[in-house]
Amino acid sequence: MSTDLSPSRRKKVTTRTFRRKKQRGEPITMLTAYDYLSARAVDQAGIDSILVGDSLGMVVLGYENTLPVTMEDMLHHCRAVARGARYALLIGDMPFMSYQVSVEEAVRNAGRFLQEAGMDAVKLEGGRERLDAIRAVVAAGIPVMGHLGLTPQSVHQLGGFGPQALTAMAARHLLKDAQLLEEAGCFSLVLESIPARLAALISQRLEIPTIGIGAGAGCDGQVLVTPDLLGLFERFTPKFVKKYADLHGEMVRAFTTFKAEVEAATFPAPEHTVEMAAGEWEALLQEIEE
Ligand code: KIV
Repeated sequence: MSTDLSPSRRKKVTTRTFRRKKQRGEPITMLTAYDYLSARAVDQAGIDSILVGDSLGMVVLGYENTLPVTMEDMLHHCRAVARGARYALLIGDMPFMSYQVSVEEAVRNAGRFLQEAGMDAVKLEGGRERLDAIRAVVAAGIPVMGHLGLTPQSVHQLGGFGPQALTAMAARHLLKDAQLLEEAGCFSLVLESIPARLAALISQRLEIPTIGIGAGAGCDGQVLVTPDLLGLFERFTPKFVKKYADLHGEMVRAFTTFKAEVEAATFPAPEHTVEMAAGEWEALLQEIEE
């Protein structure tokens, strides 16, 4: 499908666009962003959706996992992204403990993403145990994206960041969860780090689009964590990541060159410098010498 990215032709992506794309068999694209600049670049590239993921805890804030991320962290970054993106469907990721304690808290916190941070929808992790919260958030008029498979907020319960649903029993459980999330009103579903055949089967069985990460090519769309795709986050790289650039290397090269040029006094050069007219300079010298 050729996408016309000229501003006069582009339309805001909505949850209806997601549904229509699945019906037409057109792949959905999603990337994460956490700030104004990257949101602008992702939006200009014509990506359908921006997820302000709680992965920001690891790739922006330097935590070991996503558990320390707070509502205030999320809202702060969502606002910056909303200022940078005009067309993409903006999805705010609900952080750990913002929707697990009670249905009321889930609805209130989900509402803050739309009311205070310019998001169009929220995402939350989990299956059958989250149905009440999802139903209530959807009933409040807030689109919800589900997230099954490797759900990083449960890293301690899962025993690490490894692939999920590798047995027939676990796969059956996940398929059922996916169907329950659809019935509860989710408009879409992230499937993370599960076998490709299972993800394809779920995608065929559901009417709502699935967005895969480490879940093979049979999903209705794909998402990557942008600093992984850009080669910015070099601490570790999951198997399912494809690096489309080496921006960490580019950054180190640029910073090293800057350091060398400052130390060699070759930066700033005359073209980076502002000068006074000779007459003004002489007038100044005369004044301060008087
Ligand atoms: O937080 C995040 O970036 C995510 C994606 C991996 C889907 O949840």
